[in-house]
Amino acid sequence: MKKTESEGKATVKQSGCALSRRKFLFYSGTALTTSTVLLQIPGVLKAREAHVATYPRKLIGKMSQLKLDQPVNFNYPDDGLNATSVLVKLGQKAGGGVGKQQDVVAFNTICTHQGGPLLGSYNKEYKTLGQCPFHLTTYDLTRYGIIVSGQAYQSLPQVLLEVKGDSIYAVGVMGLIFGRNNNLIG
Ligand code: FES
Repeated sequence: MKKTESEGKATVKQSGCALSRRKFLFYSGTALTTSTVLLQIPGVLKAREAHVATYPRKLIGKMSQLKLDQPVNFNYPDDGLNATSVLVKLGQKAGGGVGKQQDVVAFNTICTHQGGPLLGSYNKEYKTLGQCPFHLTTYDLTRYGIIVSGQAYQSLPQVLLEVKGDSIYAVGVMGLIFGRNNNLIG
């Protein structure tokens, strides 16, 4: 797998015909965010498929300005439907966490069950988002947004992060944002 950056875009490329479901979901969030193109490689008679998923690369915060258990709001991957997200320093190692302690994570804040708003529901004691005001689902931010309790059956979409120096960039989404059939079209 090869990852390249150009002109403010983060691009993930996968060569070959097969892509495991796990990898596919991890990088794309949804089948519709990828496109299939044909690569004609010199010296190779048969064209091969490549799956490409492209997300905007967006500066969402500075490490030096993050405060423990104080979420910072941002929109990602665009300013469209249900893009509200939070960046938070949990103070303990987390799945997908960045920074020296791997404790900085970001998540979309729309409940995956029926779209309940989770903004402002961060619980610093348990490192969770929720309870959702609609049907009480709570999500664990230390474990990729899995459901702790409630009616939902899909984890909260996690915003994938990269750190360069002091800057924190959003570069993708793991999981489908509620209300969309494509993370990249709001
Ligand atoms: S909408 Fe959040 S639990 Fe139902």
